[in-house]
Amino acid sequence: MKKLQQIGSGLNAYKVNFNPSLLTALQTMFDEVLKERLNREGYAYLFTGMEQINIQMKFDDLQFHVTSYGTAPLLWISNNNAHTYALFKSFMDELDIMDDIKELVDFENKIEVYCGFFVVGKKMDRETWHKDFQDGANAYTLITPLFELDESHGQLMYKDETSATKVHEYKMNEAVVFGDGFEHATQPYPETDNLRVMLSFTFGTDKVEHWPVLKQTIGEQSNYMILPCGHEKGSCQCVLD
Ligand SMILES: [Fe+2]
Ligand SMILES: [Zn+2]
Repeated sequence: MKKLQQIGSGLNAYKVNFNPSLLTALQTMFDEVLKERLNREGYAYLFTGMEQINIQMKFDDLQFHVTSYGTAPLLWISNNNAHTYALFKSFMDELDIMDDIKELVDFENKIEVYCGFFVVGKKMDRETWHKDFQDGANAYTLITPLFELDESHGQLMYKDETSATKVHEYKMNEAVVFGDGFEHATQPYPETDNLRVMLSFTFGTDKVEHWPVLKQTIGEQSNYMILPCGHEKGSCQCVLD
Protein backbone atom coordinates (compact mmCIF):
# COMPACT_ATOMS: atom_id res chain seq x y z
CA MET A 1 0.00 0.00 0.00
CA LYS A 2 1.88 3.09 -1.20
CA LYS A 3 -0.59 5.97 -1.18
CA LEU A 4 -3.59 5.01 0.94
CA GLN A 5 -3.32 5.41 4.70
CA GLN A 6 -5.78 3.51 6.90
CA ILE A 7 -7.84 5.93 9.02
CA GLY A 8 -8.11 3.57 11.98
CA SER A 9 -7.06 0.04 12.85
CA GLY A 10 -9.35 -2.67 11.55
CA LEU A 11 -11.27 -0.24 9.34
CA ASN A 12 -11.87 -0.64 5.62
CA ALA A 13 -11.30 3.11 5.23
CA TYR A 14 -8.31 5.10 4.06
CA LYS A 15 -7.18 8.62 3.28
CA VAL A 16 -4.95 9.99 0.55
CA ASN A 17 -3.58 13.45 -0.20
CA PHE A 18 -3.55 14.89 -3.67
CA ASN A 19 -2.43 17.98 -5.57
CA PRO A 20 -5.03 20.81 -5.63
CA SER A 21 -4.72 20.97 -9.43
CA LEU A 22 -6.64 17.68 -9.69
CA LEU A 23 -9.82 19.48 -8.62
CA THR A 24 -9.60 22.50 -10.92
CA ALA A 25 -11.57 21.21 -13.90
CA LEU A 26 -14.38 19.84 -11.72
CA GLN A 27 -14.54 23.01 -9.61
CA THR A 28 -14.89 25.03 -12.81
CA MET A 29 -17.55 22.64 -14.11
CA PHE A 30 -19.57 23.01 -10.92
CA ASP A 31 -19.14 26.80 -10.71
CA GLU A 32 -19.89 27.55 -14.32
CA VAL A 33 -22.95 25.41 -14.85
CA LEU A 34 -24.45 23.73 -11.79
CA LYS A 35 -24.12 26.35 -9.09
CA GLU A 36 -26.40 28.92 -10.64
CA ARG A 37 -28.98 26.29 -11.58
CA LEU A 38 -29.05 24.75 -8.10
CA ASN A 39 -29.41 28.14 -6.43
CA ARG A 40 -32.49 29.08 -8.49
CA GLU A 41 -35.57 29.55 -6.38
CA GLY A 42 -37.46 27.00 -8.41
CA TYR A 43 -35.00 24.32 -7.37
CA ALA A 44 -35.22 24.95 -3.62
CA TYR A 45 -37.43 21.86 -3.34
CA LEU A 46 -34.47 19.70 -4.33
CA PHE A 47 -32.86 20.34 -0.97
CA THR A 48 -35.76 19.54 1.33
CA GLY A 49 -35.08 15.81 1.40
CA MET A 50 -38.76 15.09 1.59
CA GLU A 51 -39.32 13.52 -1.79
CA GLN A 52 -37.70 11.11 -4.20
CA ILE A 53 -36.13 13.11 -7.01
CA ASN A 54 -34.89 11.97 -10.41
CA ILE A 55 -34.27 14.76 -12.90
CA GLN A 56 -31.82 15.56 -15.68
CA MET A 57 -29.77 18.74 -16.00
CA LYS A 58 -28.29 19.42 -19.44
CA PHE A 59 -25.79 22.09 -20.44
CA ASP A 60 -24.82 21.18 -24.01
CA ASP A 61 -22.12 18.49 -23.67
CA LEU A 62 -22.31 18.43 -19.89
CA GLN A 63 -25.14 16.27 -18.68
CA PHE A 64 -26.11 15.31 -15.17
CA HIS A 65 -28.66 13.17 -13.42
CA VAL A 66 -29.90 14.45 -10.07
CA THR A 67 -31.11 11.94 -7.52
CA SER A 68 -32.40 12.35 -4.00
CA TYR A 69 -33.69 9.33 -2.17
CA GLY A 70 -36.26 11.25 -0.18
CA THR A 71 -34.73 10.02 3.07
CA ALA A 72 -32.25 12.85 3.69
CA PRO A 73 -31.65 16.30 2.19
CA LEU A 74 -28.78 15.22 -0.06
CA LEU A 75 -28.48 15.43 -3.85
CA TRP A 76 -26.48 12.91 -5.83
CA ILE A 77 -25.55 14.65 -9.09
CA SER A 78 -23.99 12.09 -11.39
CA ASN A 79 -22.34 12.18 -14.81
CA ASN A 80 -25.07 11.39 -17.32
CA ASN A 81 -23.15 10.92 -20.56
CA ALA A 82 -19.76 9.65 -21.71
CA HIS A 83 -18.28 13.16 -22.04
CA THR A 84 -19.17 14.17 -18.48
CA TYR A 85 -18.07 10.78 -17.13
CA ALA A 86 -14.66 11.25 -18.83
CA LEU A 87 -14.17 14.63 -17.14
CA PHE A 88 -14.93 13.10 -13.74
CA LYS A 89 -12.76 10.09 -14.43
CA SER A 90 -9.69 12.28 -15.15
CA PHE A 91 -9.58 12.99 -11.42
CA MET A 92 -9.30 9.28 -10.62
CA ASP A 93 -6.68 8.76 -13.34
CA GLU A 94 -4.51 11.54 -11.95
CA LEU A 95 -5.05 10.45 -8.33
CA ASP A 96 -3.40 7.18 -9.31
CA ILE A 97 -4.48 4.95 -6.39
CA MET A 98 -5.50 1.91 -8.40
CA ASP A 99 -2.38 -0.12 -7.53
CA ASP A 100 -3.41 0.22 -3.87
CA ILE A 101 -7.04 -0.64 -4.64
CA LYS A 102 -5.88 -3.79 -6.43
CA GLU A 103 -4.58 -5.03 -3.07
CA LEU A 104 -8.09 -4.66 -1.63
CA VAL A 105 -10.42 -6.11 -4.26
CA ASP A 106 -10.73 -9.24 -6.36
CA PHE A 107 -10.15 -8.15 -9.96
CA GLU A 108 -9.14 -9.53 -13.33
CA ASN A 109 -7.22 -6.82 -15.24
CA LYS A 110 -8.06 -3.39 -13.89
CA ILE A 111 -10.11 -1.33 -11.48
CA GLU A 112 -13.15 0.21 -13.15
CA VAL A 113 -14.48 3.65 -12.26
CA TYR A 114 -18.25 3.14 -12.22
CA CYS A 115 -19.54 6.67 -11.72
CA GLY A 116 -18.65 10.18 -10.62
CA PHE A 117 -20.87 12.39 -8.46
CA PHE A 118 -21.19 15.75 -6.84
CA VAL A 119 -22.90 15.19 -3.49
CA VAL A 120 -24.61 18.43 -2.59
CA GLY A 121 -26.54 19.60 0.43
CA LYS A 122 -27.43 22.64 2.53
CA LYS A 123 -28.35 20.95 5.78
CA MET A 124 -28.52 17.54 7.42
CA ASP A 125 -31.16 17.04 10.04
CA ARG A 126 -30.38 13.51 11.18
CA GLU A 127 -27.71 10.81 11.35
CA THR A 128 -28.33 8.43 8.49
CA TRP A 129 -25.99 5.59 9.44
CA HIS A 130 -25.27 3.14 6.63
CA LYS A 131 -22.65 1.08 4.84
CA ASP A 132 -22.08 1.93 1.17
CA PHE A 133 -21.71 -1.70 0.07
CA GLN A 134 -22.91 -5.18 0.84
CA ASP A 135 -20.14 -7.48 2.09
CA GLY A 136 -18.16 -8.87 -0.81
CA ALA A 137 -18.97 -6.05 -3.23
CA ASN A 138 -15.28 -5.58 -4.04
CA ALA A 139 -15.86 -1.90 -4.57
CA TYR A 140 -15.02 1.43 -2.95
CA THR A 141 -16.36 4.94 -2.52
CA LEU A 142 -14.13 8.00 -2.64
CA ILE A 143 -15.25 11.27 -1.12
CA THR A 144 -13.48 14.63 -0.86
CA PRO A 145 -14.60 18.26 -0.55
CA LEU A 146 -14.88 20.00 -3.92
CA PHE A 147 -14.71 23.37 -2.17
CA GLU A 148 -13.62 24.40 1.31
CA LEU A 149 -16.41 23.42 3.70
CA ASP A 150 -18.08 25.98 5.95
CA GLU A 151 -17.18 25.72 9.63
CA SER A 152 -20.69 24.42 10.32
CA HIS A 153 -20.87 21.86 7.49
CA GLY A 154 -21.11 18.25 8.62
CA GLN A 155 -18.02 16.06 8.77
CA LEU A 156 -17.80 12.28 8.39
CA MET A 157 -19.07 10.26 11.34
CA TYR A 158 -18.01 6.62 11.48
CA LYS A 159 -17.87 3.62 13.79
CA ASP A 160 -14.41 2.49 14.81
CA GLU A 161 -13.52 -1.19 15.37
CA THR A 162 -15.07 -1.12 18.85
CA SER A 163 -18.26 0.42 17.38
CA ALA A 164 -17.52 3.75 19.09
CA THR A 165 -18.61 6.83 17.12
CA LYS A 166 -15.74 8.89 15.72
CA VAL A 167 -15.59 11.97 13.49
CA HIS A 168 -13.23 12.39 10.57
CA GLU A 169 -12.72 16.02 9.58
CA TYR A 170 -12.75 16.47 5.84
CA LYS A 171 -9.77 18.42 4.51
CA MET A 172 -9.24 20.05 1.15
CA ASN A 173 -7.02 17.95 -1.08
CA GLU A 174 -7.48 14.85 1.05
CA ALA A 175 -9.83 12.11 -0.09
CA VAL A 176 -11.40 9.42 2.06
CA VAL A 177 -11.79 6.00 0.44
CA PHE A 178 -13.91 3.27 2.01
CA GLY A 179 -15.48 -0.06 1.18
CA ASP A 180 -17.74 -2.73 2.65
CA GLY A 181 -18.10 -2.96 6.41
CA PHE A 182 -17.40 0.74 6.99
CA GLU A 183 -20.38 2.23 8.81
CA HIS A 184 -20.75 5.98 8.49
CA ALA A 185 -23.03 9.00 8.34
CA THR A 186 -22.88 12.66 7.42
CA GLN A 187 -22.63 14.65 10.62
CA PRO A 188 -25.86 16.65 11.02
CA TYR A 189 -25.55 20.40 10.43
CA PRO A 190 -27.94 23.36 10.35
CA GLU A 191 -29.09 25.00 7.14
CA THR A 192 -26.40 27.11 5.45
CA ASP A 193 -26.46 29.54 2.54
CA ASN A 194 -23.34 28.02 1.08
CA LEU A 195 -23.82 24.69 -0.64
CA ARG A 196 -21.83 21.83 0.85
CA VAL A 197 -20.31 20.19 -2.22
CA MET A 198 -18.41 16.92 -2.11
CA LEU A 199 -16.83 15.08 -5.02
CA SER A 200 -17.45 11.34 -4.97
CA PHE A 201 -16.76 8.24 -7.04
CA THR A 202 -17.65 4.58 -7.00
CA PHE A 203 -15.06 2.17 -8.38
CA GLY A 204 -13.83 -1.37 -7.98
CA THR A 205 -13.73 -4.82 -9.50
CA ASP A 206 -13.86 -5.53 -13.24
CA LYS A 207 -15.28 -9.02 -12.62
CA VAL A 208 -18.92 -9.36 -13.62
CA GLU A 209 -19.38 -12.22 -11.12
CA HIS A 210 -19.46 -9.56 -8.36
CA TRP A 211 -22.23 -7.55 -10.03
CA PRO A 212 -25.12 -9.26 -8.20
CA VAL A 213 -23.71 -8.02 -4.86
CA LEU A 214 -22.50 -4.72 -6.23
CA LYS A 215 -25.73 -3.77 -7.96
CA GLN A 216 -27.65 -3.87 -4.70
CA THR A 217 -25.92 -0.63 -3.82
CA ILE A 218 -24.76 1.06 -7.00
CA GLY A 219 -27.27 -0.30 -9.52
CA GLU A 220 -29.74 2.54 -9.03
CA GLN A 221 -27.49 5.36 -7.78
CA SER A 222 -27.20 6.92 -11.20
CA ASN A 223 -28.64 6.72 -14.68
CA TYR A 224 -25.33 6.51 -16.54
CA MET A 225 -22.63 4.24 -15.17
CA ILE A 226 -19.84 1.98 -16.32
CA LEU A 227 -20.30 -1.66 -15.34
CA PRO A 228 -17.50 -3.98 -14.12
CA CYS A 229 -17.22 -5.25 -17.73
CA GLY A 230 -16.26 -1.72 -18.82
CA HIS A 231 -19.45 -1.03 -20.80
CA GLU A 232 -22.14 1.54 -20.15
CA LYS A 233 -25.03 0.14 -18.10
CA GLY A 234 -27.83 -1.00 -20.40
CA SER A 235 -25.60 -1.28 -23.48
CA CYS A 236 -24.39 -4.86 -23.18
CA GLN A 237 -25.32 -8.39 -22.18
CA CYS A 238 -22.30 -9.05 -19.94
CA VAL A 239 -24.29 -8.81 -16.71
CA LEU A 240 -27.73 -10.09 -15.84
CA ASP A 241 -30.06 -7.47 -14.43
FE1 LIG B 1 -22.14 6.62 2.32
ZN1 LIG C 1 -20.57 -5.33 -20.73
